[in-house]
Amino acid sequence: MPIFLFSGPPRRHSRPFGIDASSRSGSGQVKIGFWVTPSSSQMPMNPADISELIRHRRTIKPITSTGAPNYQDRAIEPAVLEQLLDNANWAPTHGLTEPWRFVIFQGASRFTLAEFLGSAYEQNTARKDFKPAKLGKMRLYAEQATVAIALGMQRHTGVISAEEEVIAVACAVQNIQLSAAALGLGTFWSSSPVYDLPTTRQFFGWTGETDRCLGILYAGYPANRWPERKHGQPEPITEKVEWRN
Ligand SMILES: Cc1cc2nc3c(=O)[nH]c(=O)nc-3n(C[C@H](O)[C@H](O)[C@H](O)COP(=O)(O)O)c2cc1C
Repeated sequence: MPIFLFSGPPRRHSRPFGIDASSRSGSGQVKIGFWVTPSSSQMPMNPADISELIRHRRTIKPITSTGAPNYQDRAIEPAVLEQLLDNANWAPTHGLTEPWRFVIFQGASRFTLAEFLGSAYEQNTARKDFKPAKLGKMRLYAEQATVAIALGMQRHTGVISAEEEVIAVACAVQNIQLSAAALGLGTFWSSSPVYDLPTTRQFFGWTGETDRCLGILYAGYPANRWPERKHGQPEPITEKVEWRN
């Protein structure tokens, strides 16, 4: 995928994303050129770039299928993380309730998370459903990810339905995933009933009656080649669309 660097103020026909994982300043920092405030109705964006970015985004897990590390031993720059989160904040939201909440785990806190998730799985899984391999993976994801982002939904009771608030959070997460892909970062949206247990929500600090945890997003710079989509292309869109004129 061609990778672009944007810097300076928005220009017509310029590349708007700071999508440059390969071009780094002498300090080793990724140069980021996102701008965050749309200033006019004319978006100076090449539409082909956004289509390419959407296709380029891939689920990349912190470990390979054999359990080997799948992310580089390389920090995600604080400015990059902040940009990802700020982009999440621009997601569409009915009633402007902005229901997305995030808890970021990096450094030693990833191990605390791994420990917590492991025990929560052990203590809340019926014997017949318990799978040691699942337990191992749950712990390893958190330990091997460069950053883990707990994905929360805090509902504004009585205003917008829970379903719509969940959808808005998913939009915010997609903003993160696309922005991350543009910067060469792999992400993996992991879901499990364990994440939405009251004890897990409490661990994340989401104690409201209608609060939800919708998953954990793991992120890191891939250690291996950027993957192809598993099982190839999506089923054709023509099979999912009915046109009425
Ligand atoms: C809400 C949501 C939850 C997901 N949970 C999991 C999961 O628990 N385990 C998993 O392997 N993949 C999970 N995925 C990722 C999908 O497996 C992945 O998106 C799919 O295989 C297509 O691959 P791609 O993301 O590279 O296009 C989840 C994706 C979404 C949107």
